[in-house]
Amino acid sequence: MIWLLGRRGMLGRVLEQELSAAQMPYHSSGRECDVTSEESISANAPNPAPRWVINCTGYTAVDTAESEVNAAWAVNQRAAAHLAQYCAAHSSRLLHLSTDYVFDGSESKGYTEAAPIAPQNVYGASKAAGEQAVRSALAQHVIIRTAWLHAEHGRNFVLTVLRLLRERGELTIVDDQHGSPTYARDLARAIVAIAGSAQPAYGTFHYTNSGETSWHDFACQIQDYALELGLSSRLRTIRAISSAQFPTAAVRPTYSLLLCEHIAQTYGVELRPWHQGLRECMERVAARVTE
Ligand SMILES: NC(=O)c1ccc[n+]([C@@H]2O[C@H](COP(=O)([O-])OP(=O)(O)OC[C@H]3O[C@@H](n4cnc5c(N)ncnc54)[C@H](OP(=O)(O)O)[C@@H]3O)[C@@H](O)[C@H]2O)c1
Repeated sequence: MIWLLGRRGMLGRVLEQELSAAQMPYHSSGRECDVTSEESISANAPNPAPRWVINCTGYTAVDTAESEVNAAWAVNQRAAAHLAQYCAAHSSRLLHLSTDYVFDGSESKGYTEAAPIAPQNVYGASKAAGEQAVRSALAQHVIIRTAWLHAEHGRNFVLTVLRLLRERGELTIVDDQHGSPTYARDLARAIVAIAGSAQPAYGTFHYTNSGETSWHDFACQIQDYALELGLSSRLRTIRAISSAQFPTAAVRPTYSLLLCEHIAQTYGVELRPWHQGLRECMERVAARVTE
């Protein structure tokens, strides 16, 4: 039995669908299980204790975290510690999600799992501390660092660009931050493979779709597919700007490419190109629109 936490989040929703499609027995919780409270975790835990706890909760508002430091740390660090302690006490395994924002983005060849971390913002620091809390409380853990998640629901760049293409005559998007857009459903499928593994390998793994792009070029690809799939009717100008021209509360890494060979070799999961994941995501958006 798997216990999925954060079932209403972007990743949690697709993971629940993929667990169901794979016919894996699971129990899922949303906000009713407040992961920042040990009592709430105990009160909402399934009985008998799960073999895996999959933590898809998170404080993910990167800019707001700069002013809501305690709230970000409560979910990203304290809850991770509570869940690891719960797992240690119940002989459960924990799969926990983390981020490329634990790195500073100065490494031009990308980051392996062993690369030194240097978070540049509150979100990244709280996620890095959450990783550490998991490692120190529980040997049977899998930490997956991922990046630039998108899906057909939730708050994400793809749906934001689709809305802006409808609302505005011209878009301006930063072109000096590079990363690997990752379809949340591809990550969910990798998680299902790990949770179904007879003898899981523990530790920290990177998982993204393959290839890299900038936010600007990502937006241009979204527009191309939107026109093809009938999600947008008019070609808009998408202007490239620098991060300096679009200041945000949180500093973001400029080149946070995650190198993902370790998870591919260990678990045999597919790392398909990011534009293929985007295409599937947008086909699902289009199917929903025409329903
Ligand atoms: N999105 C990305 O680009 C990205 C990139 C790298 C890593 N990650 C990591 O991947 C994981 C999933 O991200 P996501 O994008 O799916 O996040 P998300 O859409 O923001 O979902 C997070 C979920 O956590 C829930 N939550 C927040 N505080 C909670 C609490 N105290 N108790 C119980 N549930 C709580 C939220 O509930 P409400 O819906 O009620 O707010 C939400 O459903 C996170 O760990 C995130 O840090 C995400």
